[in-house]
Amino acid sequence: MSTTVIAPAKRPEIKTALPGPNGKKIIEADAKFVNPAYPRPSFKLVAERGNGVWVEDVDGNVFLDCNAGVAVCSTGHCHPEVVKAIQEQTAQLIHMCGTDYYYRHMPQLAEKLDAIVPVKSPTRTHFANSGTEAVETALKLAMHATGREKFIGFFNSFHGRTLGSLSLTSSKAAQRKGFKRQALDVVHVPYPNEFRNPFSAADCGDGGASQGALHWIEERLFKTTTPPEEVAAIVVEAVQGEGGYVPAPKDFLKGLRRICDEHGILLIVDEVQSGMGRTGKMFACEHYDVHPDIVCIAKGIGSGLPIGACVARADLMDWKPGAHASTFGGNPVCIAAALKTIELLEGGLIKNAAEVGAYLKAGLEKLQQKHDCIKDVRGFGLMLGVEFSTAELRDRIESACFERGLIILGAGTHTIRWSPPLILTKENVDVALEIFDDAIAACI
Ligand SMILES: Cc1ncc(COP(=O)(O)O)c(C=O)c1O
Repeated sequence: MSTTVIAPAKRPEIKTALPGPNGKKIIEADAKFVNPAYPRPSFKLVAERGNGVWVEDVDGNVFLDCNAGVAVCSTGHCHPEVVKAIQEQTAQLIHMCGTDYYYRHMPQLAEKLDAIVPVKSPTRTHFANSGTEAVETALKLAMHATGREKFIGFFNSFHGRTLGSLSLTSSKAAQRKGFKRQALDVVHVPYPNEFRNPFSAADCGDGGASQGALHWIEERLFKTTTPPEEVAAIVVEAVQGEGGYVPAPKDFLKGLRRICDEHGILLIVDEVQSGMGRTGKMFACEHYDVHPDIVCIAKGIGSGLPIGACVARADLMDWKPGAHASTFGGNPVCIAAALKTIELLEGGLIKNAAEVGAYLKAGLEKLQQKHDCIKDVRGFGLMLGVEFSTAELRDRIESACFERGLIILGAGTHTIRWSPPLILTKENVDVALEIFDDAIAACI
């Protein structure tokens, strides 16, 4: 197999049955030797090369990627400027260990994050390797800073799979099964999903699902199981990701901010999936005009290199040496990729996510008029969810898209997420929508 970059395509090109013969061999080896707990979907992509929005598999099939390695390849696959930044950095310094030594990259990225995060400056940043580690850091920090140990999270949320973040995660039973009681004292509240409002009319009053959730926290939790003075933090996704691409209702985050301020509780916003330009603003919080105390970042910040960050108000992150650190977190190569990624995001990709996202959303809404099975189209920028009438139909449509060369992935039970690279063009959207339409028609 050659190592050359694939030429940018105009349309997907599927030449073999999927998976093809080379793909099948890799899947067999994987089944024998690799952790079987990876929750892979029913369609099977065996990737070999990526370029922009295009991915080629090991059998020479070319796909239009509208998932970006689960919302990670924000600048597209192997963006030449990111590749160059990584190559130059690897030739200079790959690792030094920020827990014990200094290098320019850490303060450089931390200073940049201070300027762009929705947390009020001054901030401090802990560098991690993944989303779950960024969340672990936030949880530890909240306990350390408040001296409290209870947390409030939301049903259908996903914050990671390590034991602390797993205590918050509640999007699927399989993520929890077999791991006994949760490590942290977390109580879950229904997420104010406006499309499937879980609250009673009495809870909602005239404020809809948002008021329902706030009322639940103040009138039920605080008055029964969870005294507010014992709560370290409320942890929330501004747009629920794995739970089904569900944006928070308009006033919800502001309501949480008010509750936190009234009771000395910290507001932690997990922007691991929704951050870094995906929603058409640098952070999804900006759509809600809210300032968290701590924000968790990963996925799209490194264009595919593993880097996470927990950015907190500087007065909160005043713990002593040894309280929290990481051998690899914020390694110079990953930071070089992150700095270049942010430059590209600010240089036009966030704007593109807003513009092309609006174009994609309009196209999806048109398909909703055409196909009764589409029940909801929602989201911001290039973080869009399309909810179908049944989970089974959603799964078949996901596979039918793949067979036609379009990579999209489910989220939650009934929803297909659109999380393409932020370099997606309107021309790409036209191709993707044509395939999506055809796949839906073939499945109903
Ligand atoms: C909102 C959110 N938080 C945390 C995580 C965990 O990130 P990681 O898989 O990098 O640990 C994810 C992953 O999907 C996520 O979507």
